[in-house]
Amino acid sequence: MVSDSTFPVIAIDGPTASGKGTVAQLVANHLGFHYLDSGALYRIVGFASLQKNIPLDQGLALAKMTQSLQIEFKGNNIFLDNQEITELIRTEEMGLRASAVGAIPEVRLALLSLQKSFLKAPGLVADGRDMATVIFPEAILKVFLTASAIIRAERRFKQLKNKGISANIDTLLGDLLARDERDTQRKDAPLCQAIDAHLLDTSNMDVEKAVQKVLFWYQKVSKEGSI
Ligand code: C5P
Repeated sequence: MVSDSTFPVIAIDGPTASGKGTVAQLVANHLGFHYLDSGALYRIVGFASLQKNIPLDQGLALAKMTQSLQIEFKGNNIFLDNQEITELIRTEEMGLRASAVGAIPEVRLALLSLQKSFLKAPGLVADGRDMATVIFPEAILKVFLTASAIIRAERRFKQLKNKGISANIDTLLGDLLARDERDTQRKDAPLCQAIDAHLLDTSNMDVEKAVQKVLFWYQKVSKEGSI
């Protein structure tokens, strides 16, 4: 895989609650790269569409709304039209809403150039569902990070518990499988492993090991041109 852009991109895709966000952010910190959490953008669009009462069958209106949103990432905080929404978009409800707006081609198109604009010196780690296949097909390293559904549901359960939010593991598993189904079955940019992506199954791997693996692959591909 050879990057045709000036700055390197590491694309990390995978299903919900696989831990790809945590791994991507730590890899970005380690390399001093920028970080794109593309799922947050879909969550923001889902959140705004509810706030503005725009139904999901209004693709063009949703695309117009998406282009008019003022989105700012400041450190770990996310602002929409100057309102802090960091935690408001992290709920299960917003995850499902994000998955619904993510299935609308007009919305995906409206988010294209914003996502590409995250690529700046010295490089970018981008996580999502279609980073390797659609947004950054030129990525120097592509990783498909996954874990079994039950492990992912347990991780989400622990995350919510740590935040003091009560949850039911069976409900979480059901929501997660519904989201997987919609994300993999949609026509436009479905979740799938790019043919040139490296599979990283973290079912029996902690975060630190997963980060080390991605960094190892990156060093190798940077030096040798392949893994
Ligand atoms: O990654 P996260 O769980 O925050 O993403 C929320 C939802 O946004 C996903 O379930 C998916 O439907 C959608 N999404 C997408 N394409 C991306 C990132 C997220 O369709 N690149």
